[in-house]
Amino acid sequence: MQTELQQSIKSLLKKRNAVLLAHNYMRDEVQEIADITGDSLGLSQEAASTSADVIVFCGVHFMAESAAILSPDKTVLLPRLDAGCPMADMISAEELLKFRKQHPGVPVVTYVNSSAEVKAYSDICCTSANALKVVNSLPDKEIIFTPDRNLGTYVSRFSDKKFHLWDGFCPTHERLKPEAVTALKAANPGALFICHPECNPAVVELADHVCSTTGMYDYCRKSPAKAFIIGTEAGILYRLRLENPGKEFILASPALFCPNMKLTSLEDIKAALETMQPVVRVSEEIRIRAKQALDRMIAVPRD
Ligand code: 13P
Ligand code: SF4
Repeated sequence: MQTELQQSIKSLLKKRNAVLLAHNYMRDEVQEIADITGDSLGLSQEAASTSADVIVFCGVHFMAESAAILSPDKTVLLPRLDAGCPMADMISAEELLKFRKQHPGVPVVTYVNSSAEVKAYSDICCTSANALKVVNSLPDKEIIFTPDRNLGTYVSRFSDKKFHLWDGFCPTHERLKPEAVTALKAANPGALFICHPECNPAVVELADHVCSTTGMYDYCRKSPAKAFIIGTEAGILYRLRLENPGKEFILASPALFCPNMKLTSLEDIKAALETMQPVVRVSEEIRIRAKQALDRMIAVPRD
């Protein structure tokens, strides 16, 4: 049953003709009332196709920016403007331009966990769900991959292209150590270890399956296994447990907690809908360039 606060958010959403998009890492009570929950790819596609006037983006800043890039005629609200992504902050547009100069003519593939400016100076974007398809869609023999060295390393294992990796990473996923996984595997024989490609390669090495967050829902639903050790941010457990009542989900480490993803509260969402603030905007010059990189990604066939 919804609380009074959740109900008042629901009626404000109706009043504003707004849609509430929530990333799979959001707090449980936020996911509970979201119109759509999803991974970065799914949410960016929803943002591009929604007929709502207002998008309330419950996630981090780069995600709301992507929504603003794809839907310039809509108002994009990010209830907590201070919800950032440390990995996205690990590369600036200036640094990317310098890196490009060191590898002239090499196309840049940029993970969506990046600023609008960095996207604007990239050739194509990718998410964890489509990174390999995006890389393989390019005719070039070499690519620059930014900002996530772990996702880049993982994808490079399945590609014969030469990767020039930017040295960025997700501090949350990086906190998961291989020793923690080995110990949990020993204590839970029969449990499958599923992890996100943002994890360190030494952790990915131990995985039975590697995928985006939405990929985890699909995999765990279809798998005959009864127990899973989960190597991604804790917020994923809410829907995994809801959708699979007979199965056990064990978080691979208590350190898998992204403080930025946990900032947005129901009170923040209500305040954003009441005041129609804070709005995320991207300058038109950057938006047009960044949109090309996002559009090229969206045009890559899924299967
Ligand atoms: P997805 O790849 O499932 O979108 O999430 C990864 C992430 O860390 C988003 O910040
Ligand atoms: Fe950024 Fe990692 Fe948090 Fe995702 S989980 S927002 S990549 S710090």
